[in-house]
Amino acid sequence: MENIHPIFDTVLQREEKEALLRQKSVVLWMVGLSGSGKSTIARALERKLHAEGYLSQLLDGDNMRSGINSNLGFSEADRAENLRRSAETAKLFLHCGVITICSFISPTAKVREQARQIIGAPDFLELSVKCSFEACARRDVKGLYKKALRGEIKNFTGLDAPFELSEHPWLEVDTEEQSLEESVETIYRQLSIRIRRN
Ligand code: ADX
Repeated sequence: MENIHPIFDTVLQREEKEALLRQKSVVLWMVGLSGSGKSTIARALERKLHAEGYLSQLLDGDNMRSGINSNLGFSEADRAENLRRSAETAKLFLHCGVITICSFISPTAKVREQARQIIGAPDFLELSVKCSFEACARRDVKGLYKKALRGEIKNFTGLDAPFELSEHPWLEVDTEEQSLEESVETIYRQLSIRIRRN
């Protein structure tokens, strides 16, 4: 960092960009097992936001891992780095006035705290997408649970890698109990209070 001179204070302010977009930006950080419904909810929420006139950006584990994070795996250290880079990316969108939806397993309180620190607590809305390991394994949309249970994937979240439930999320949805529409409606109702410009 010694010879690095960032110029964050001389560029256009976030507020000016929010005013242009007629919205207030925030990061919605989704937490949940693989197959819990994070990406499905995120995509539907983006559609809803767009229809209501809000500009949003979705950052998703599988997508980030196919690009900027393609050199990372699923060890504890690689997951932390995956989420560090993703949080830094989310912060860029946040400061551009964009409503940023992050969809990553984010398996431990420690990595979630790291993301909260990078983004800043007031702008970090943690959303717990609850679904039991058994239900995710039953759905097995990507066929990964079958492989993991056969021992073909190491460090699989919820099996031989940890998953800690969010303790004090901003909001929680349960995809075993609620329909997709209900979850999106619940989230949108709360989110719209935060992003609406008065
Ligand atoms: S995180 O732990 O670093 O937050 P992330 O959300 O980016 O994970 O990536 C999770 C996705 O990677 C899963 O939805 C699944 O498609 C895929 N994946 C591949 N290997 C694993 C694994 N060992 N554990 C969990 N997910 C895996």
